[in-house]
Amino acid sequence: LAGQTGQERGVEVYAVGGFVRDMLLGIPNDDIDLVVEGDGIAFAQNLGRKLGARVRPHLKFRTAVLILPGGQKIDVATARLEYYEYPAALPIVELSSLKMDLYRRDFSINTLAIHLCPPHFGRLVDFFGGQQDIKDGVIRVLHSLSFVEDPTRIIRAIRFEQRFQFKIGGQTERLIKNAVRLNIFQKLSGARIRHELRLLAEDSAPLDAFIRMRDLGLLQEIHPLLHFPQTKEALLEEIERVITWYKLLFREEAPDIWIVYFLGLVSGFDTHQVQALTSRLRFAPKRIELVESTRRQLRYVAMQLAQWGKNGGSAADLYDILSPLSLEGLLYTMAKQRKLELKKAVSHYLSHLQDVGILVTGSDIKEMGLEPGPRFANILRAVKRAVLNGEVRTREDQLKYARR
Ligand code: CTP
Repeated sequence: LAGQTGQERGVEVYAVGGFVRDMLLGIPNDDIDLVVEGDGIAFAQNLGRKLGARVRPHLKFRTAVLILPGGQKIDVATARLEYYEYPAALPIVELSSLKMDLYRRDFSINTLAIHLCPPHFGRLVDFFGGQQDIKDGVIRVLHSLSFVEDPTRIIRAIRFEQRFQFKIGGQTERLIKNAVRLNIFQKLSGARIRHELRLLAEDSAPLDAFIRMRDLGLLQEIHPLLHFPQTKEALLEEIERVITWYKLLFREEAPDIWIVYFLGLVSGFDTHQVQALTSRLRFAPKRIELVESTRRQLRYVAMQLAQWGKNGGSAADLYDILSPLSLEGLLYTMAKQRKLELKKAVSHYLSHLQDVGILVTGSDIKEMGLEPGPRFANILRAVKRAVLNGEVRTREDQLKYARR
């Protein structure tokens, strides 16, 4: 339909970037990026009407986002027709604007395009050898200034390398090392670095990606404190394992994975050191609060948990120890436990105990002739403890327990 719309308007339309890359790799990707050689916004409005999609144009960048009724998004960009005047009175030439658009991108694997307009529908456009690099599993920049233009691409290179199990090409790796020598991260804003680190933590194999960053000297370039020693790798590996486990529970509440890794990266640091990092990475006040309050709780929770294990405490006691923690704090605590039984206890809390509810309500207690107040709350709490400990199950038993 996009191709047909393009044809009607007399403009060429291509699917480009990650969508095409993933198609060749056989990986599903719902983010469709289109490039239009011509007026992208008018095209988007036209296509949007046909698809019943909302269209959000950005006039300044000549781009638009289509939001389909199901929530899926299509990004539309305009490839400008650029005219280059050659010296010595040669005529003005029009370069393929698609080629120019793709040349501005980060890696060859992201420069593939598929023609969508008839009669060329489905034809692969490969100006920069992207197809070969996908076959060879190589991450390669298009020109030597790529990382200087946009240093975040260094972190992207590592992210793609880990995600697809590709290898950063030899020349590209030399350019990264060169960029590090030129201290190009120093000029990069903390917010942009943090955004990339977050994407890294959420992608596949974050530990290997962090190790790769460290070994290339990138972490210490961002901040000397980020250079984690080998001794911390075991903890970060455990964090990776715990997060993988948690994802498989398919629970609704999603953790901020980056924060869990960050807690691991700063383990053993004092408050000043943590502040130096949250300030370099321009954490939002809410995230700073999450990190700081979680760190305050962690020491106490660790102590209580160890005690609980020694004394063979009840499920209700475990609930009381763990329920004040944020999800990020819980996952970190699970990773941090060396003793298998304590690790299992935290996992039991995350997968079962935290969902436990009671079938006795406030109005039941009122019917027993009690007014809301501290006793009221105590009764509900006692019922909950009994339920957590498996002492009572049915509503009848819970009511009986409350009356007692
Ligand atoms: N891009 C770039 N330089 C950047 C960020 C993005 O050149 N610093 C280009 C890439 O070529 C990419 C396109 O912009 O194909 C879209 O960016 P994004 O959606 O982040 O990339 P994807 O390749 O789709 O990555 P992901 O699969 O992680 O969404």
